[in-house]
Amino acid sequence: MHVRPRRNRSRAALRRLVRETRLSADDLVLPLFVQEGERLHTPIASLPGHARLSIDLLVETAREAEEAGLSGLALFPALPEAEKDSRGSASLKPDGLLQRAVRALKDAVPEMLIITDVALDPYSSDGHDGVLIGDRIDNDETLPLLAAMAVSQAEAGADVVAPSDMMDGRVRAIREALDAAGFSDVAIGSYCVKYASAFYGPFRDALESAPRAGDKRTYQMDPANVREALRELALDEAEGADWVMVKPGLVYADVIRLVREHTALPVAAYHVSGEYAMLRAAAERGWLDYERCLLESLLALKRAGADVIFSYGALDAARLLRAGATP
Ligand code: PBG
Repeated sequence: MHVRPRRNRSRAALRRLVRETRLSADDLVLPLFVQEGERLHTPIASLPGHARLSIDLLVETAREAEEAGLSGLALFPALPEAEKDSRGSASLKPDGLLQRAVRALKDAVPEMLIITDVALDPYSSDGHDGVLIGDRIDNDETLPLLAAMAVSQAEAGADVVAPSDMMDGRVRAIREALDAAGFSDVAIGSYCVKYASAFYGPFRDALESAPRAGDKRTYQMDPANVREALRELALDEAEGADWVMVKPGLVYADVIRLVREHTALPVAAYHVSGEYAMLRAAAERGWLDYERCLLESLLALKRAGADVIFSYGALDAARLLRAGATP
């Protein structure tokens, strides 16, 4: 037997030398939830380790994230029910919760990328990403609202606006509106290939944003489809997306790989709330080692082709990597 793959695995230094994929804090973005109030930390039961934070505590967490070497933060506002309406108008307030949170973060951690989500659901009394007219989500009525929301976020200081709504044509509408308002440097991180997934459950608990009626299958992609990802990719490239995301992450690693092979744009993957919650739940029972499984999961997303990884475990992972852990 002169061919022995095990030879390259026989010593730690040799394994390091031939390692094909490396995960680093540079790759990671931490999603955070913000709420009104002061010194308020409201744990999210289905998302252990995460809470809705008032802006002062959000800023403290952002400093920890910067200290750990993370590249960016993705922000989601948890609005009181009374502020929600059918057109998500609270999203456009210059002094709204999200806008104030972005300003506070840009003040406190100016080097960190602040990524804001563009979609109606956190602001919508219907819990949908677009405007509900009759019993359907109206694509073209929604576009100007998304474009205005993106401009409002850019005015507050967002570096990247990330449309997660899956309306057709929204990347172009947002690009035109940003440019017209003088924000040609604000990037669009498009949730390009986003599936109608049951793995978003804990996120919707965090924002109390689950659809009040129906589901998101008329706009988010069918989990059965993969070729369709290439149609979404072609459109987002043509419309001016700066990066394209596949979401969820691990369950769609084949889609990440496909998208990676068909674009020169940076590819992002979102290790979504349900994927993270599964790890934490199993770890609480003593069935899995959270830290090792987290690093292995994020590494898997990178190996599949993701350049940018959003994960609720980003801060934990960055600290573990700092301390020299390997998956
Ligand atoms: C909303 C949005 C969702 C997520 C990010 N932006 C939920 C949804 O589409 O219902 C999911 C994130 C997660 O589960 O971690 N447009």
